[in-house]
Amino acid sequence: MMMETIKVQAVIGTNSWGGKAYGKAVRGSYVADSVIKEAMREAADQGLFVYDLARDYGLGKAQKMFGDFAAELGGEPFIISAKYTPFTHYKKNCVRKSLEKDLADFQRSYVDIYWLHLPTDIEQHLAEIIELYHEGKIRHIGISNFDLAECKLSKRLLDQAGIPLYGVQNHYSLISREWEQNGLLDWCRENGISFWAWAVLEEGMLTDPRVRTKFSLMKFFMNRQKRKMHELYRVMIAVAKRRGITVPQVAEAYCVNKGIVPICGCRKPKQVAELAEAVRVKLTAEEMRRLEEAAAMSGAKVLGHDLFRFAVLKKRS
Ligand SMILES: NC(=O)c1ccc[n+]([C@@H]2O[C@H](COP(=O)([O-])OP(=O)(O)OC[C@H]3O[C@@H](n4cnc5c(N)ncnc54)[C@H](OP(=O)(O)O)[C@@H]3O)[C@@H](O)[C@H]2O)c1
Repeated sequence: MMMETIKVQAVIGTNSWGGKAYGKAVRGSYVADSVIKEAMREAADQGLFVYDLARDYGLGKAQKMFGDFAAELGGEPFIISAKYTPFTHYKKNCVRKSLEKDLADFQRSYVDIYWLHLPTDIEQHLAEIIELYHEGKIRHIGISNFDLAECKLSKRLLDQAGIPLYGVQNHYSLISREWEQNGLLDWCRENGISFWAWAVLEEGMLTDPRVRTKFSLMKFFMNRQKRKMHELYRVMIAVAKRRGITVPQVAEAYCVNKGIVPICGCRKPKQVAELAEAVRVKLTAEEMRRLEEAAAMSGAKVLGHDLFRFAVLKKRS
């Protein structure tokens, strides 16, 4: 049975959820479970129910946290976006085994959207994902970190099985627009395929203009880039002031105004409330132009648009 497509406006990313050591070392701070649970409650109040997950997020802790908290908050209304990450070449039933563990974490019998996380052994992995779709364990199929040729191949394989390609989930932000410039985004639009952007806040670089000195792995990379971004921050602050919103909301609204679904790493109630509000902000063509101009001038970059290409395994000969 084909599922009615899901309309998604914004997504809560969970990569930063997890234990104390991971939070402090990689994310620069730890956020208590009770605060994350409160953020989920706030998100539900604001009408945000979609969570982006993967087995390795939060060093393997995020999925179980989500499952436990969602169950406490009533379970069913939550929309789960989960992934199969092919760290190795395809092995029979590898997707099935991984999904079974996911479903146990989520305390659910299905996921709403299931993404092939990397374009390794596309034919074999998608064939198994299609089987799981037919068994009702997956309601929609997406692909992540795929280039245009890989997207076209995936769509063809799914078309042959009579299943629509739900979406493409790639890196995109105000300062990383290559998927727009190389035609992938237009192809998605032309084919009615949703485009989800991960790291629209560039791991925090598009949230706070002040260069922070506190050490974390992320901030070590970000701080050097931030110095290039004074003009972009100036424009973002001006737009934020005029609209009565915050700087991160400008980055989120920018994506929404492009028809892109933003995935934002939120751990706090205020962050989800801001995301819910940003979705409703209509930027003018002039504001969009000024933001793009300042972003292009900065030359700043944290994550490449094709960051995970190194992890894609070559075809077996
Ligand atoms: N498909 C893929 O290959 C892939 C790859 C990477 C990520 N993702 C998905 O994309 C999600 C987003 O990526 P991310 O979490 O790494 O980075 P992100 O969303 O670009 O940035 C997260 C950072 O922004 C901060 N933040 C969030 N909302 C804010 C607000 N309203 N005001 C101020 N600061 C705010 C967070 O602060 P705190 O430090 O306070 O939390 C955190 O430092 C991930 O969680 C994951 O679900 C997918």
